[in-house]
Amino acid sequence: MRIPREVMEAIKDRCDIVDLIGSYVTLRRAGSNYNGSCPFHSEKTPSFTVFPDSQSFFCFGCEAGGDAFTFIMRAENLDYPSAIEFLAKRTGVDIPRSAEEEKRGLSRKRVYEMNLIAARFFRECLFDPVMGREGMAYLHEKRGLSIPIIRRFGLGFAPDDFTALVSVLKKEGYTDQEMKEAFLCGISQKSGRAYDYFRNRIMFPVIDTTGNVVAFSGRDVGGDSKAKYLNSSDTPGFQKRKHLYALNFAKNHCADEMILCEGNMDVVALHAAGFENAVASLGTALTDDHARIMAKYTKQVILAYDSDEAGQRAAHRAMGIFAKVGLDVRILQMEGAKDPDEFIKKFGAEKFRQLLKKSSTGFNFKLQSVLSKHDITRPEEKIKAAAELCEIISRVYSSAEREVYIHAVSDKLGISTDSLKGDVERLQRFHAKEGRQQQIRQAQLSAMNLGDKINPEAAGSVQAAAAEETIIGLMLMYAEHRKAIRTNVVPLSAEDFVTSFHRRAFEAIMAMEMGEGFEFSFLGEAFTPDEMGRLAKLEQARRAMTENGTAVLRGAVEALAEAKARRSAKDAAPMDSLQMLLAGKRKNIRKSSDET
Ligand code: UTP
Ligand code: MN
Repeated sequence: MRIPREVMEAIKDRCDIVDLIGSYVTLRRAGSNYNGSCPFHSEKTPSFTVFPDSQSFFCFGCEAGGDAFTFIMRAENLDYPSAIEFLAKRTGVDIPRSAEEEKRGLSRKRVYEMNLIAARFFRECLFDPVMGREGMAYLHEKRGLSIPIIRRFGLGFAPDDFTALVSVLKKEGYTDQEMKEAFLCGISQKSGRAYDYFRNRIMFPVIDTTGNVVAFSGRDVGGDSKAKYLNSSDTPGFQKRKHLYALNFAKNHCADEMILCEGNMDVVALHAAGFENAVASLGTALTDDHARIMAKYTKQVILAYDSDEAGQRAAHRAMGIFAKVGLDVRILQMEGAKDPDEFIKKFGAEKFRQLLKKSSTGFNFKLQSVLSKHDITRPEEKIKAAAELCEIISRVYSSAEREVYIHAVSDKLGISTDSLKGDVERLQRFHAKEGRQQQIRQAQLSAMNLGDKINPEAAGSVQAAAAEETIIGLMLMYAEHRKAIRTNVVPLSAEDFVTSFHRRAFEAIMAMEMGEGFEFSFLGEAFTPDEMGRLAKLEQARRAMTENGTAVLRGAVEALAEAKARRSAKDAAPMDSLQMLLAGKRKNIRKSSDET
């Protein structure tokens, strides 16, 4: 989707980045800029800065940066077009669309409208004394949900009828085809007529973080249906692998931790008991997408999967997925109940809170899994188990926690706490040494630009990359420099660049410069938020300098040309004639010294 320039400008005109970011982060004035705690990584001293002059932001800690659109992409977890739509909505700017987009957008909008009508219809059915009697009895009496929580989650009831919803939607002007696309009805092969897809089910509307009803999950109440839960399939406006049930509520309560459970019912029961940070995936196992989305909202996940074997296996698998996205996971171990819903009903919210606290680390879980791997009646197996557990404990930061775990292991294995403690301490010293070496290596690497994920080629061409950084920074900052390059006053072209990231940046800037004119925000179309952060960094780096005139640009262009020439000289002639001469001489010297 190409957004017209006027629209982009209108949005930017009406959206002040300080107000925008200020609605997410508490900002304090610092000179002409604003500081705050970075919303994208955890930090103690605020290194997140908003620059009103350039309408940009940058975090000196995690290097997130960019403009209002990049901010929204990160903060609301949206792609570039959706971030533009988000800000257009917020600023009241209309985005004109092509006919094709109009159609696609319209069909999505119609699905959401149909879903909203359906959700209202199901709710009316549930609250109807006759039609909803069975459903209400189930929710209220059998599952113990209060009326306010039923209302909060917008729960409803789909009557045991093949045309109840279909006839409502028809009256509102929706076609069979549209209803089918929204997964609200099926089309009978025999009669060719539309029939209700959800029947005799408790209906859970699935709501996204912007408040649209995007899908439904329906639980059978008769108990005679094949599927206990029936969920909408994927539509253009709903993807199972990315959706978390109740994230629309949980997103405001999960900055520190989020509870992930298996079922919708668990989520509703947890929210009812005051745990408003609970979510669940919907009719699918946890995906990488889910984990990445969670990582945007929280620092730590507590897994509250079912206590049966399948649940525990799923928890193991989930731990691996969370590790990949770098999210801390803790595991809740429930005894005496199958799932959180049942646990709270049996033992109460307070006991669940204690479970959450006790789950404070995944240690018990790991302890169990190590013990289940080894037959500890055999000495050599016992030693292996002890070694694995000491390794795990040696990575724990708090000494009080370590002590608790050492006691637990000592109890299970019958090894004295003293000898376990000795082993743990030895491992700690070893890790500390390893850590220091790692730090030194890291420092060496970063001095050579190694490990730069955004521009990996910089490592092989440190000087060229540094000159390029100056050039891109200057080009981002001043129209004057872009003009000098466009008019060939300062000759520079894409082929002059050594690293492809900087070349891409150059090409994107110049494409705009040659066309409608440069606009930083349009870079978001071709660069990821991380790359946008780098571009913002290059610009900030120049802003911090006092000298940014044409002489600096010319100097950098020359430096780049020289660095490049040095590189190609090295590539073309691995040894120049002088080096060859020297090599030959050395050989002669060695030969003569061998002879003597
Ligand atoms: P469970 O079978 O553990 O259900 O399925 P539950 O949460 O305990 O439900 P209640 O308490 O019996 O009502 C957990 C989740 O797996 C998906 C649903 O998302 C459900 O919430 N599921 C389960 C399905 O998609 N289809 C099914 O037939 C069963
Ligand atoms: Mn259950």
